Parts: sequence; C-alpha cells; structure tokens
Amino acid sequence: PRNEFVTNLMGQMTVDEKIAQLVQFTADGTVTGPKGGNNFIDEIKKGNVGSILNATGVDYTRQLQKINLDNSRLKIPLLFGYDVIHGYKTIFPINLGETASWDLEAAKLSAQIAAAEAAASGVHWTFAPMVDITRDPRWGRVSEGAGEDTYLGSKMAYARVKGFQGNNLADLYTVLACTKHFAAYGAAEAGRDYNTVDMSERVLRETYLPPFKATVDAGVATFMTSFNEIGGVPSTGNKFLVNGILKKEWGFNGFVVTDYTGINEMVAHGFAKDEKHAGELALTAGIDMDMVGGVFLKYLKQSLAEGKVTQAQIDDACRRILEAKFDLGLFEDPYRYNDAKREKATVYKKEYLDAALSIANKSMVLLKNSNNVLPLRKEQKVAFVGPLVSDEFNIIGSWAALGDRNGYAVSVQEGINKLIADKSKTTFDKGVEVLGTKKELMQAALDNARKADVIVAVMGELENMTGEAASRTNIDLPGIQKEFLAELKKLGKPVVLVLMNGRPLTLTWESENMDAILEAWYPGTMGGDAIAQTLYGINNPGGKLPMTFPRSVGQIPVYYNHKNTGRPYFGNKDSEQKYKSRYIDSDNSPLYPFGYGLSYTTFSYSNLRLSSKNLTVSTKITISVDVTNTGNYNGEEVVQLYIKDITGSVTRPVRELKGFEKTVLKKGEKKTVIFEISAEDLKFYNIDMKYVAEPGDFEIFVGTNSDASLSSQFQLNIKQD
Ligand code: IFM
Repeated sequence: PRNEFVTNLMGQMTVDEKIAQLVQFTADGTVTGPKGGNNFIDEIKKGNVGSILNATGVDYTRQLQKINLDNSRLKIPLLFGYDVIHGYKTIFPINLGETASWDLEAAKLSAQIAAAEAAASGVHWTFAPMVDITRDPRWGRVSEGAGEDTYLGSKMAYARVKGFQGNNLADLYTVLACTKHFAAYGAAEAGRDYNTVDMSERVLRETYLPPFKATVDAGVATFMTSFNEIGGVPSTGNKFLVNGILKKEWGFNGFVVTDYTGINEMVAHGFAKDEKHAGELALTAGIDMDMVGGVFLKYLKQSLAEGKVTQAQIDDACRRILEAKFDLGLFEDPYRYNDAKREKATVYKKEYLDAALSIANKSMVLLKNSNNVLPLRKEQKVAFVGPLVSDEFNIIGSWAALGDRNGYAVSVQEGINKLIADKSKTTFDKGVEVLGTKKELMQAALDNARKADVIVAVMGELENMTGEAASRTNIDLPGIQKEFLAELKKLGKPVVLVLMNGRPLTLTWESENMDAILEAWYPGTMGGDAIAQTLYGINNPGGKLPMTFPRSVGQIPVYYNHKNTGRPYFGNKDSEQKYKSRYIDSDNSPLYPFGYGLSYTTFSYSNLRLSSKNLTVSTKITISVDVTNTGNYNGEEVVQLYIKDITGSVTRPVRELKGFEKTVLKKGEKKTVIFEISAEDLKFYNIDMKYVAEPGDFEIFVGTNSDASLSSQFQLNIKQD
C-alpha cells in the first residue's frame, strides 16, 4: 500500500509541490549556522516546506502542522526533526560515556526512551545516531560518538538505531533515526571541526564506513551527509559516497538530508561556483533533502528547466521523503504525535529516570585507584571540592535536547546528600571555576579539605567546550583546576579526582599525583546519583574507555589498532635506541589504552584455549578463557578479544577488537567466557580492494583492555582466488 499510496499522491503533485518536500527549514530552536533569511512560518504558509527542525512540543508542532495543512493543496504533513542525541528530557550519559559501558542493551534502551519522550512531544525524527569513528580527541564532537573503534562503534550504531526506531515506525513511541555524518567527519584534519579529510579508500571502507553500514543493516530510515570534504569532494556533492556506496552498493532506500546549509557551503569549499550549481551537484550526488540552505527551493525548478537535473532525480528524492512520512502514519493522522496527555505521561517517567541512573552507573570508568582509596566509607570525613561538584547545568552534557538543567538534573552534591545522612561528614566547596583564574574561593575549600580524611575534586570541562564547534588544541583540565589540585595534594590527604568531560583529556600529571581518578563523562540527568553511588561503592565501576587517552596532544592521533611500521618501538622514552618509530621526549604508549578501566575488585584471566588451531572457510574456532573475580567486591568485567593478522597482502593493524563480552562475577566467582570466530571476522580490503580473508597466521589476545597479553595463535587455511 505504501508504494501505491505514494505513487498515486505523486501523480497529483506539481513540480513545485515535489520540490517543497525536499526543503527543510529551522524553527527558532538551536540554530547552528545561518538561518538563511527565511521566515519559516511564511514558507510553510506558501507550501514551500516538507520538514521543520528545532520545533518541539505537542502544542507547537500541532500549530505548525495546522498552518501547513491549511495551506497544503494535497494535505501533505510536515515532518518534524530534532537533535535527540543522548536523551530528550531524561538525559543519559553523552554517547561517548554510554559507549564506555560496552553495553549494547543499555545503548538500545536509552535510544528507545529518548524516542518515546520525543515522539510523545511531537518529534518524528532524530538526527542520531552519530557514528563517526574518531581518533582525535581535539575534535569536540568525539562526545557524540562511540569513540575510536570500528567494531565497537558498529555494534553501538546498530543498537542505537534499533532503539530509536523499534520494529515499527508507526509505533507512537518511536522516531525515524538519522545516521550521521556521512562520511569520515571524525577524521577532520587536526581535530578542527568542519575541516578537510583525505584518506585512502581502504581506510575509509575499513575503519570509517562499517558503523554506517551497520545502521543500514539495522534498517535506519535516514542519513545525513557530513560537512567535510574527502579527497577534494564535499560529502554533500559526493556521488561516489551517496549514490554510489550508500544507495547503490548498500541498497539504502531511506532518504538523505544534508547537514545544516551543507549545500550552500559547497561554494565556500570551492566545489560549486554558486548556490544553484551547488544544488545541482547535491541532487545529482543523491541528496534528497536540503537542511536550511534554501537552495533546492530557490533554484531546483530552474535547474530542471535548464536540464541540469532531471525530473527522475526530483521524483526519487520526493518519493523517499513521502515514504518516510507514510511509515510514520502521518498521512493517516498528521496529529498522531500531538497528544498532550501522552506527552505529560511520557516525559520523565520514573522508569526512565531509573534507566538513566543505571546507564550512568555503567558508564563510569575507574582510571586509577591507589591503595583502594575508593570506595569511600560513610564514616570518613570527605571534603568535596571543585567547580562541578554542585553543578546541575553541565552534568547533562552538550546537545542535551530539552533536558532540564536545573530541575530534574541531580548534581554530585545532591547525590551525596541523599546517601550521607550525617552532614558533619561532608563539605562542599567550589574552590575554582572551570575557566578563568579567579582564586578567591580557593582558601575556603582548602580549609575544609585540611580537616577531611579524603578529598574528592569534581572537575572537568564546561559542557559547551565539547560537541559541535568546540575543538581544542589543549586538552588539559582547563583553567587553574590543576593548580588547585596541586594545592590540595600538598595537604597530604588522599585526593580523588572525578572528571566530567566530553573527550579524552591529557591527564599525565593527574595520573601521577592523584590517588584515584574516576571518569564520569557527562553522566546525564541522574549523574549526581550515579557518581555518589560509585564513590561510595553502591555501584562498582565497570566501564572501559572507548577512546585512547594520550599522554600529550603531541601524540595525537594515538589509537590502539595502529600499524606496526618497519621500525616498531616497544621501549620507553628514556631508552637510547634511535632510528625507531618513536619520540625522543615521550613514550609511544598512551596514558590509558582503549578498552581500559579498573574495578573495585580484580579479575584474573587464565586457561586460554582454542577449539582448533586451524580455521577454514567452512569452520569456526571457539576461544575460551576463564575469568575469576579475585578481589573483594562483586563486579562486572568486559572481556575483550583482539586479533592480529600477522602478514597480509597489505599491512594489518597490530591488533583489532573482534569480540567482547560483558560478564558479571560475584567475588570469588569464576566463569568461562567463550568467543567464536570464523573467516568472516578476518576479512579486510586486500591489495586488489577485494574484501577477503587471507590465509596465514593469526595471533589472538584476550584480556581486560587493548594491551591484553594472554595470547594464542591459529592458522587460516583457504585457497586464495
Ligand atoms: O544534526 C545536526 C548536525 O549534527 C550538525 N549540524 C546541525 C544538525 C541539525 O541540528
């Protein structure tokens, strides 16, 4: 019926009406670029708009929908899109933090809840998940993605789409998802947002594209192109990418929207001579909807008359967009997402807040814990200090949709106060600001810290220092926070650093001088409870880094699955060895590797065994390892499997994540964790750009992070084509 309905409708549409479907304007919400001078309400009245972004709430979207329908000859409903990135009202940890949970069910659940709240508030479509792999923590947008690894990123991407979309887009608690930013935006040179990307097709296909493909496999409804160019071609005008890989090769049959004024920007890129030309290039590349740029609306009809674009191209774009509207049930009832009662009953549901707490708990990564300073004990006197200790604003992180920053959001201070009834045991002082050099508040904080048994400093970045257009060249703790930490350390008490930030930071000094470090990311609405529960041991942290933490900015890009080079170097910086791939002033190794994270308990790995040392195309190998909780707490461990292809027709990374299993172990408990691998898991783009597994020797590593050393080998025996 969808096909029939859309064909029939399109049969009645004029060219102008078709082009209008390809047009999106922004309402007055978060505006991340020029508005293009369009008064969106006038444009809706003129029947020029197919979609609106940044309008939310059942009343407002109803009002706009009504203006549209009153003026639409064929009563074609508007599609409302909004950036629901890590929650709509109930805010979950930023996506990077949530990825640190390595919990796919958690990622799916948070997307599901975000979709339910958004859909109940008149939103049809989210611009998420962001699936950009990135190896550069200077880039502000690392906070929105799943980090550096293709395998983990692909699993997360799939789970998030399933969460947003469910199994039926007509379900009133789901939204259309939008995979972004296609493609390779995370590889922007020097980590500077919107910057140039240049890479081999092999790296593009092997490292950057798989999470995008995973979302197509998950049935994602829409895609967004990225701002960057790749190899001289801006993504929004990139035929090879959009029509070629996405639509033809992968068979994607949803629609593709540009990023905000992405078409217009092709003029500044130097790829289009003017906006009209840019529109032609975009449509020809496979773009279906123009986000805010107004180019399709202004020029497409003229371009059609001049033969620069074809009717078939416009029809194809229009059809894809109408199909999405049909799938949402909007033709049946354009107001079906506009039920005020449902909105009220859905947002901030108790079970959603509980899920936000549970997921925030899972996202905590313990980076250091000398002498078991953590967990804290209730009888200890603790001085909580730092600019983010009482903060309700930053704790939910950047791009937090309509998350209430000063009402529902729980600060660390509030979280601690709920747990510690005896108020004589805690003090709370800011000490310093995140930014700036003001020292007036420091003394009061130091005075309280002097009287405490333990000091906990809650510090980090301001939420707007991460996310879009928030690249940094210096990724230290900002301002004079470190100076304040040095003063605290002089008091001779154990100092615990709790971090809220949207990217890996350079924590070399902190890792040497702090007794414990807990990476809390921006943990969301229930973040203060999660941090309190983690500090006091109600939650045992089990998160693992989804991105390498460098020792210094000079090491960037530093990532675990690098190549070996012809002169690999395994020593430290003090060795005399020259003429090796190394620095003379730094170790090659990062401060904290990918996959790293401690627990209040300890785990030991033993008895790694393979069902066979020989793999063929038609067989599988089972890899088993025994993991024992050898410490004093129940805990969760992410058991990680890495594989190294020792020799290839092209060089292969030193190791690659190929499996992980999150397992819960009571203290003293031992479990056998089992992975299965087949030739499929060993495929890569060979010297002829064929996606194949090559016969030969492989090494496997199993353990607690990407430095895992428990290893074994096997062989792949196949005849090569
Ligand atoms: O979805 C975003 C995108 O990630 C960056 N530019 C603006 C879009 C819509 O708000």
